[in-house]
Amino acid sequence: MGASVSQVRRFLSPVMAHLPPRVRLMLRGALADARGLPRRFTDPQRRRDPWQTLHNDGSNADFHTSGAMVLKELIDIWGMKATDRVLDIGCGNGRIARPAATFLSSGRYTGFDIAAGAIRACRTQHAGDGRFAFHHLDVRNTEYNPGGRLSDAELTFPCEDGQIDFLFAISVFTHLTPEASDRYLAECARSLAPGGRAFITILLLNEPRRAGIADGQSRFALHPWRDAAMVADPASPEQCIAHDESVVRERLTSLGLKVDGLIRGQWCPPTTSEGHMHDVLLLSRS
Ligand SMILES: C[S@@+](CC[C@H](N)C(=O)[O-])C[C@H]1O[C@@H](n2cnc3c(N)ncnc32)[C@H](O)[C@@H]1O
Repeated sequence: MGASVSQVRRFLSPVMAHLPPRVRLMLRGALADARGLPRRFTDPQRRRDPWQTLHNDGSNADFHTSGAMVLKELIDIWGMKATDRVLDIGCGNGRIARPAATFLSSGRYTGFDIAAGAIRACRTQHAGDGRFAFHHLDVRNTEYNPGGRLSDAELTFPCEDGQIDFLFAISVFTHLTPEASDRYLAECARSLAPGGRAFITILLLNEPRRAGIADGQSRFALHPWRDAAMVADPASPEQCIAHDESVVRERLTSLGLKVDGLIRGQWCPPTTSEGHMHDVLLLSRS
């Protein structure tokens, strides 16, 4: 089953590149669902996993295991606590919210996403659990929500100032334009309580990375775009965006967010990570 699905995927790849993002994501999701069927039927814990055909959050057939792994990293690497007030930016189908339900004690968990179907899946999963709240924000994104009414460069996160102890954004800044990224970082700074921490995955460009991309060593074929950013597909930039590291660092400093750590992911050498594909920024609010 696994081999035949990957053969189908290889065959379809060039065709997929020309499809509208929504159709492409749906088809990839359908392939992931097909691959996950045997596990879904044999493992009772996976029976209620969301269908990637409805909202493809990139977790493929491994929603359950990968969510638990990411949560463990948030706890082990950056000290998320069971009592924290948590914000999950671009929470998708609730891959991390699900294992968090058994981790959080008195903590609270707020998630938001621009995909209505994803938020429906999260609400169904956590119905009746007062610690969890999920918000749909109808924000435009060429990849995930082309018809959205709001601009991501003007968005306000669904939380009060300084009320979040721990926030994270997994594979979200890779879909944000430079203006949206600026806005989201400002919203992170506004939302975090003094001493609060943030775990953000992102693709950061510096000189060695740009050289690696030019040499064909990057996992993503990226092309120069604007504001020193690079994108996989200039016709649909929000499919995959890499940001200039010095621009991001300046922005963080101006917002009072301290970079306590930077794990350089495996997407392009040089890397300091054995497990992360994207770069990881570990931030704290002074
Ligand atoms: C690759 S998925 C990752 C989902 C989730 N963070 C996870 O790790 O399972 C990217 C998610 O970001 C969401 N997204 C894209 N643009 C966004 C934006 N401007 N604001 C919030 N979420 C966004 C998409 O709808 C999608 O659910």
